[in-house]
Amino acid sequence: MKKIDLGHLNGDILIFGGVYSNLHALEAFINYTINLGISAKNVICTGDIVAYCAYAEDSVKLIREFGCHVLAGNCERQLAIKSDDCGCGFEEGSMCSLLSKSWYAHARSQISNSSIDWMSDLPERIIFENNGSRYGVIHGGASDISKFVWPTDAEKVLEDEFNLLQKQIGYVDCVIAGHTGIPMKRDFNKKKWLNPGAIGLPANDGDIDTNFLTINKKMIINNKLEYDINSAYQAMQATSLIQGYHSTLKTGYWPSQETLPLSMRV
Ligand SMILES: [Fe+2]
Repeated sequence: MKKIDLGHLNGDILIFGGVYSNLHALEAFINYTINLGISAKNVICTGDIVAYCAYAEDSVKLIREFGCHVLAGNCERQLAIKSDDCGCGFEEGSMCSLLSKSWYAHARSQISNSSIDWMSDLPERIIFENNGSRYGVIHGGASDISKFVWPTDAEKVLEDEFNLLQKQIGYVDCVIAGHTGIPMKRDFNKKKWLNPGAIGLPANDGDIDTNFLTINKKMIINNKLEYDINSAYQAMQATSLIQGYHSTLKTGYWPSQETLPLSMRV
């Protein structure tokens, strides 16, 4: 397992993930960091650059040009091994699994050999320190890259994943994980579990703006990202990605909620 320790990071840190091939959202996010004067060295991506939207290869190219730290998501892992499916952990035969066949095939058709080589070399753990705390960044869970850890999960689930991660990378005060697409900030037993949500799709809450995270000296903030939704939507239509996720950009709701725990469905 490839791990990267960034040491101590000074200043504000931005955490984002789930770009999901939404180039317009990625451009807006990068412009936000530039406008704030935040260096790419203080920006970490939790993976899944490639998924539901139209611009898989261009999103990878842009993130490489930007030069932030990037963790492998399951989508990058699956593309790197030239797998036929996204490895998201969707149940066989479920709506999410059926929908993934369209967007994954589209992404796979776009991705260049250079991008596949780059994805193959991405780390699965990123570690950093800031303001007296040590953070461990993972994609889904410590036990499985595609594990969904939800805000409503029992404390035991978080505790077990947290303990396993500490066996892998040493003591941490806080875990940062992505994969679910849902922002999360949870305190338990003097520890913290954070999820920045996704910038590429809304969080199934009816809000069309998307999500990322800022860690600064005083607090941890869930931020909202505004971007050119119409252009992202039109690009999906133009590439026949019209199975449901294109509508999500405009409604804020996912086409299927079956991966969500019952208590989180709306
Ligand atoms: Fe994922």
